[in-house]
Amino acid sequence: MEDIKAVQFENGKLKLIDQRILPSRFEYWYTDTEEGVFEAIRTMIVRGAPAIGGAAAYGAYFALLEANGSKEEFERKCLHLITARPTAVNLEWSVKRMMAKAEQCGYAPNELLKEADSIVKEDREMNIKLSEIGLSVIRKGDTILTHCNAGALATCGWGTALGVIRSAHRSGLDIKVYADETRPRLQGARLTAWELKEEGIDATLIPDSAAATLIRDGRIDLIIVGADRISADGDTANKLGTFALSIAAKAYGVPFYIAAPTSTIDFSTKDGKDIPIEERDWDEVRMIEGIDIAPKGMKVYNPSFDVTPHENITGIITEKGIIYPPFDKNIERIRNGETLG
Ligand code: MRU
Repeated sequence: MEDIKAVQFENGKLKLIDQRILPSRFEYWYTDTEEGVFEAIRTMIVRGAPAIGGAAAYGAYFALLEANGSKEEFERKCLHLITARPTAVNLEWSVKRMMAKAEQCGYAPNELLKEADSIVKEDREMNIKLSEIGLSVIRKGDTILTHCNAGALATCGWGTALGVIRSAHRSGLDIKVYADETRPRLQGARLTAWELKEEGIDATLIPDSAAATLIRDGRIDLIIVGADRISADGDTANKLGTFALSIAAKAYGVPFYIAAPTSTIDFSTKDGKDIPIEERDWDEVRMIEGIDIAPKGMKVYNPSFDVTPHENITGIITEKGIIYPPFDKNIERIRNGETLG
C-alpha cells in the first residue's frame, strides 16, 4: 500500500493533504509563503503535532527566502509561525531547530531546505521505530481503543498511536480497533476511520461517550493515544477527551499508553499545569458543516486539548524505548541521551 504523505515539498511548494475535507474529498493544498503555512496550521489544513512541526519547517524556509537577507525579518516571521497553534510543542521545536540551523549555516537557503527535509524524514523514521517498539505491549487478538487521529495524517509518515496499530496489523497480530469520533472536529471519524479502512484494519467507530462503557465491560484490552506535548514529569497534553479516557482506564485496570516521538517531550515544562491549552472557535461546537446545532449566541467552552496526569499513564512509547514510571527520572535519562531498555 502506498504511504499516506501529509507533508511534502514539491517544485518549491509545500504540498499538504487538505485534512479539512477528508474523507469526502482527497485534495492537496499548496503554499510557498510563510503566511500560507501559518494559515494552513491555524485552520487545520495540516494538523497533528508532528505534521505541524514538519509543515512549519518549510514555513521557516519560506521565511528566509522572504526576508531578503534581513536576519530580524527572518526571526520575526519564525516567531510568528510559532504562534499558529500553542499546544503542540513540535511546532516550536521544529521552528527553533530551523532558526539554529540558519545561524549555524550562515542563512543559506539550500541548507535550510535540507534541514526541513531532514525533520520530515527523521519524524517518519522515529515513528516507524517507536511503532516497532510498541509491538511489545500488544498481544495477538487485542482490541485497542484510540482517540483523535495520531496516524500518518498527523505526522510526517506512518503515525504514532496509529503507527503502533499499523505495525501490529502488518505483523499479523490480528488486532481490532475502536476509534472515538472525537468531537468537535471529528478527527477520529473523518481521519482515523479513513486511515484504518485504507489499511484494512478491523475497526469500529464510536461516539466519544461510548468509550467508558466499553472499558467497563472488558471490551478494550489497551488504549493507545498520541501526544501534543509531554512535560518533564510525564503529564501529557493530547486531544480533548484523552483525560476522561485515562480516568476510565485507571478505574477498570486497562493499560493506557501514549505513543510519541521524543520531539514531543518538552523538557523545559515541569508539569502539565504549565502546558498552554488552545481554545478554539465556539462555532466548532455550535455548528456542523455550517448548520446550527445549538441556539444562536449560545456560550461555549471549547478547549482543544486536555492534560492527562502521569499517574494515569502506563507507559510512553518513544523511538528511544518505552518510558515507564518514575516518569520524571526516566524522561531525564532520555534528555541525557540514554536509550531505555
Ligand atoms: O487538533 P489536532 O487535530 O491537531 O490534535 C491532534 C492530536 O491531539 C493528536 O492526538 C496529537 O497531535 C498526536 S499526533 C501524532
